[in-house]
Amino acid sequence: MEDRQFTTMFMAVLVGLVGFTIAILVIANLLYKGDAMESDMRVQKAVSERVKPVGEVYIGSVPAKAGVPAATAVSTQVATADLSGEQVYQQVCASCHAAGVLNAPKPGDAAAWAPRLAKGNDALYANAINGIGAMPAKGGRADMSDDAIKAAVDYLLK
Ligand code: HEC
Repeated sequence: MEDRQFTTMFMAVLVGLVGFTIAILVIANLLYKGDAMESDMRVQKAVSERVKPVGEVYIGSVPAKAGVPAATAVSTQVATADLSGEQVYQQVCASCHAAGVLNAPKPGDAAAWAPRLAKGNDALYANAINGIGAMPAKGGRADMSDDAIKAAVDYLLK
């Protein structure tokens, strides 16, 4: 009789403990899942914040032209307004003019410039902008503004 009582008691305690364990497991699992998801989101945000590129490329605004598909209307114009005449010369003109490629008049070459200067600055601006002889319009950089080219001409003539 005592053995039976002990066995019953023992089974009750055992069932109680198993139930308790399962309850704790379920609760712990619920709590952990919520927290894991939240911190995962926070970690992802922090990581993409850390690995994002330093600068962004500005490719200009998209002009809304009638009949022009959006893809071809995207302007690749660079912000050239703030380039100095010297910078435009170095980036665009020097490739020909520094070494006299295609007989381009070199800066400081008085003999080459004398007849050109005689045409007047406005003629030189216009020829640099529209192209002359072997020189392509704007030295091949159609995206440059007229003022940037004029500034480069001024630098070239100095
Ligand atoms: C692809 C080579 C090339 C590039 C790039 C180039 N030039 Fe020239 N440039 C020439 C050549 C060649 C001539 C001579 C053309 C002629 O007289 O037939 C010339 C002539 C000129 C003249 C004299 C025009 C005249 O009326 O006689 C000016 C001013 C000038 N270039 C300015 C510039 C400026 C400013 C740039 C940069 C924005 C530039 N060039 C880029 C090749 C180039």
